[in-house]
Amino acid sequence: MRVLGACALALAVAACAHAAPQVAYDSAALPHGALGAEIAYGREIVMQTRRVLPGDVRANMDCAACHVDGGTRARGGSFVGTFATFPQWNKRARRVIALQDRLAECFLYSMNGRPPAYASREMIALVAYIAWLSRGTPTGRAEASSQRFAIALPSGSPDRARGSALYAQRCAACHGAGGAGGGAFPPLWGATSFNGGAGMARIDLMTGFVYYNMPKNAPGTLSPQEAYDVAGFVLSHERPAFRRNAMVSFPALPARYF
Ligand code: HEC
Ligand code: HEC
Repeated sequence: MRVLGACALALAVAACAHAAPQVAYDSAALPHGALGAEIAYGREIVMQTRRVLPGDVRANMDCAACHVDGGTRARGGSFVGTFATFPQWNKRARRVIALQDRLAECFLYSMNGRPPAYASREMIALVAYIAWLSRGTPTGRAEASSQRFAIALPSGSPDRARGSALYAQRCAACHGAGGAGGGAFPPLWGATSFNGGAGMARIDLMTGFVYYNMPKNAPGTLSPQEAYDVAGFVLSHERPAFRRNAMVSFPALPARYF
């Protein structure tokens, strides 16, 4: 029951409570001065990544495609508390990572791009924004954002034929019949989508995300089985491969920078 909670009992209710904001981002509440300006810049990067960092992003989406409303939705890739979970052990990298490393992962996999340098204004602004959303969360106790949209997967494999029919009815109007999205609607598969290494390419994470957040115009109206079937259909398509051996390099800085 932990995983489904009240939302499962309220499937018929269009705007399920889990789609509600966890915190509101209030620019008037930011600290005055340089720090507040950097937090606002971090927010801008999350909302408009393609515009602000065109050279670092190849997928046709912004961070907010998966971190709904800039990471302020409880079950929509929330950043609230995230700052307090770092440094943390990372299974994929098999080392302890800092928040900058986690941000680099989303640039490399979800955005199919490359990370800004750790000392860059952009990386520090992202950290400042996530720290701001996390204020008040004690370190060492918060859960990762994906745990908040985890659901118990139905047994068996997803039924892609049912998923395909559901996609046509409930998703295609925004994400396109061919999955390529466009404009305000992010691509779900194909050359402009996230690559195969991304968290969203995992059936469990996409099922939970879709269950709590999609369809955008009626979240909370899909059953776990429907979310699983449609995620199975979406993930049956081609997407870019993660280029494991591409080199990531950051420009050198003079000592006086620090
Ligand atoms: C295609 C969807 C997608 C996009 C786009 C995306 N992310 Fe993510 N992000 C995820 C998913 C899914 C997770 C959780 C994955 C996991 O736990 O394995 C995640 C996790 C994170 C986390 C860790 C959160 C926590 O509490 O553990 C951070 C920080 C993050 N993303 C930042 C970003 C930033 C910044 C961008 C834009 C540069 C971005 N992401 C773009 C899907 C995405
Ligand atoms: C009314 C338009 C609309 C409909 C219908 C809709 N979506 Fe979305 N979807 C969005 C928008 C907009 C986003 C970006 C996040 C946000 O703003 O909530 C998004 C984000 C996503 C994402 C994460 C980003 C990415 O590109 O991978 C997935 C996965 C997703 N939708 C799947 C679905 C599925 C599956 C359906 C059908 C069950 C669906 N959506 C129906 C508008 C829609």
